Amino acid sequence: MIRCGMSQNPILITGAAGFVGLATTEALLTAGRTVIAFDRQPLPAWALARLQPLPGRLVVAQGDVREAGDLDAAFTAAGTMPGAVLHTAVITAGEARERTDPASIVSVNMMGALAVFEAVRRHGVKRLVAPSSIATYGQSPEGEPVLDEVATPARPQGLYGITKLAAEQMMLRLAALHGLSFAAPRLGGVYGPWEWATGVRDTLSPFMQAYEKAEKGQEVLTDWSAPAEHVYVRDVASGLAALLDTPSAQGVFNLGSGVQSTVGEWCDALAKQFPGFSWRMTSPGEAPNVTVHARFTRPPMNIARLKAATSWAPRFSLAAAAADYAEWQKGG
Ligand SMILES: NC(=O)c1ccc[n+]([C@@H]2O[C@H](COP(=O)([O-])OP(=O)(O)OC[C@H]3O[C@@H](n4cnc5c(N)ncnc54)[C@H](O)[C@@H]3O)[C@@H](O)[C@H]2O)c1
Repeated sequence: MIRCGMSQNPILITGAAGFVGLATTEALLTAGRTVIAFDRQPLPAWALARLQPLPGRLVVAQGDVREAGDLDAAFTAAGTMPGAVLHTAVITAGEARERTDPASIVSVNMMGALAVFEAVRRHGVKRLVAPSSIATYGQSPEGEPVLDEVATPARPQGLYGITKLAAEQMMLRLAALHGLSFAAPRLGGVYGPWEWATGVRDTLSPFMQAYEKAEKGQEVLTDWSAPAEHVYVRDVASGLAALLDTPSAQGVFNLGSGVQSTVGEWCDALAKQFPGFSWRMTSPGEAPNVTVHARFTRPPMNIARLKAATSWAPRFSLAAAAADYAEWQKGG
């Protein structure tokens, strides 16, 4: 698994078997970096097969983010202490899980974040990046033009958004107390390569559901046409990589596309990749075959703060994302 020595210190990624974790692992390995990929479930075989040939060094460590011993083993797994930690382990709960298992959601999203923060301090690591979420803003009032880190109040509704906001604020406070360099990028709704059913994210993105229909030559039926902030995962991965390498960028940042898009617009982009693919709005009483989790209009994120603090900017339009996603699916 070890391919070559790296001049820069490793990056430890928790939740590395998940969507954002895998995409960021790919981006860092492609840049020749060393990644310690930590998750309580193994990295899927299909993911390992794609990651192992990349130029960087991949070190896999398995364990639970709430267990100090598991974290200690991960921090030392590469032989060199991580230069920075990216904490993406999470439970993205839907309503059913909120009803039946609130303890796990609070435990992983809050106590897991606290345990990672303590491990970062214990091992003398100087930089922590822990993605937060657009869900911390909750449902915006009609007419709100933009989601802004400072001006827009946080009004999360579900336990996921509530715990993400609490964890973000907890880590901000502790980072200030301990003088640790910390960034909490609030991600928009992510779509693109590496998304898979991890078992702890209760609704896959509507864009992935549409992609799967397009690939199978099936028509997409949607009952949801409201625009929302969606961001391509490669733009998320490059934003996280930029933050990991920019310790001066501290506090809360929006990390999104900065624009809105609809399921229909995404399907139009997919139609250019899959000739014959079509979509339509459902008729009254007809069931959709794409599930949209956040059923409200989501204003675009103001991403100026992150752009000013780092060299990052999003690169992918819907059309470019559809072409890149299709290429990735082919193994390219
Ligand atoms: N996917 C999105 O659209 C989106 C949007 C906004 C924010 N985010 C944020 O991005 C980050 C990653 O989310 P994701 O979409 O990749 O989720 P995911 O479900 O794809 O991956 C989460 C990973 O965390 C792991 N995990 C869960 N509990 C763990 C534990 N106790 N110990 C170790 N590993 C554990 C899971 O096994 C899984 O591999 C999270 O901080 C999430 O809040 C994601």
